[in-house]
Parts: sequence; C-alpha cells; structure tokens
Amino acid sequence: MRTEQIAKYWDEYAAEYDLEPDHGLLDSDTRMAWKDLLRMWLPHQASDVADLACGTGTLTALAAELGHRVHGFDLSGQMVERARAKTAHFGAAVCIEQADVSNAPLADSSVDAVLARHILWTLPDPQAALAGWARALRPGGRLVLVEGRWTGVGDDSVDDPEAMPWSGGVAASDLRAAVERVAENVQVVPLTDPVLWGREIDDERYLLTATVPARGRP
Ligand SMILES: C[S@@+](CC[C@H](N)C(=O)[O-])C[C@H]1O[C@@H](n2cnc3c(N)ncnc32)[C@H](O)[C@@H]1O
Repeated sequence: MRTEQIAKYWDEYAAEYDLEPDHGLLDSDTRMAWKDLLRMWLPHQASDVADLACGTGTLTALAAELGHRVHGFDLSGQMVERARAKTAHFGAAVCIEQADVSNAPLADSSVDAVLARHILWTLPDPQAALAGWARALRPGGRLVLVEGRWTGVGDDSVDDPEAMPWSGGVAASDLRAAVERVAENVQVVPLTDPVLWGREIDDERYLLTATVPARGRP
C-alpha cells in the first residue's frame, strides 16, 4: 500500500519534476557540471550502468552520452514514461523499466556501476537496498550515490515519513557507515558548487562512491 502511495506521489510530481535546476539540468552549465561529475566517477570505459530510481531519466541520458549502456528503473509510471521519451534516441543503449529499487530486479554480478541519486532517503529499508545493489555489481564494480541531508525538508510522499529512517536525507557519515557494510574504498565528495544546484546551498550534499572487492566481499 505504501508503495502505491509513493508511486502516486511521484506520478503527480512527474510533469513538473524537470523544472528544478538540478532535476531537468536545463541550464547548460548545470548540465555540464553533472556530466563532468559522472565522467569522473562512473567507470572510464563503456560499461553497464544501472540508474536506480532514474526519475525522468536526466542522469540516465548523461550516462548514455558518456558511452555507457544504461538500465534505468523507477517506481512511478509517469516518471518511466518521461525517462523513456528522454532517452529514446539512444536506442538499445538505454532501457527503462518500472520497478521498485528496494529490491531491484538485477541479477547478481550483472552491472559495472550502480548510480542512484536522491533515492535512499525515501526507502523504508535503505540498508537492505544497499546490500542488494552491491550484490548486483560485478567484482570491482562501483556504487555512485548522490545524497544529502537537506535542511527543513521532510518527506511528504507518505503519511508516515518516520517509517523511512533517512526521511529528510542522510548525513554522509551515516551513509558511509551503511555502505562500509557492503563495499569498500568509500570516498565522499562534497557537492557544494552552486552550479550543480542552480543556487547557493547551505545544507549537506555529496557524492559517495565505493567499490565491491575484485574477489569476495568485505
Ligand atoms: C528525487 S527523485 C530522483 C530521480 C532521479 N534519480 C534524479 O536524480 O533526478 C526520486 C525518484 O525515486 C522514485 N522512487 C521512489 N521510491 C522508489 C522505489 N521504491 N523504487 C523505485 N523508484 C522509486 C520516484 O518515482 C522518483 O522518480
């Protein structure tokens, strides 16, 4: 039931979603800044990338422009429709699927990178989701997570936001601790440049990356 409520919330937001500067990346400098970030932190060779909770497919498209084969997933049918429209010109290099990324329908060791921006804060069991995402990575594969702890923001996508442990965002230190249970080589990169957000920010925003071991897991 809660899943349906969350999907409905995002369905209703989908038409306006890209109007936020960091969502639609309609400004060329903002778009270039995110593309540079992905160029730096996604694998440098053409790879299989899962964009989990891809929304309208903006980062999916940037990853595809960088030469990756991208499989995007989102719970919201309206988001999926927009993401498919936005990425149709990439043909077979991009596939968008409607799915719950709490339990992403990805085979174990099937992708080189998991990209997930602004989704962990809205999952009921983010630690379990992270474990599944790490399992989906091939040996040496990489998590690229963009999250934040936003001042004054709660979660109005459900009636009981307290059921989501990271409602309102997750501090980098907490996400680091969670990721260290499933991956290694954790790095946190503060995302303070206003160009990324279309404005000055005064809260915590960051990219966290980690890899799963080339053999075995920590
Ligand atoms: C803040 S948006 C982020 C979208 C995209 N990652 C981006 O950076 O623009 C959150 C997205 O998560 C999706 N979402 C929420 N819960 C989800 C779940 N359990 N599984 C898959 N997608 C989910 C919503 O439909 C929405 O598109």
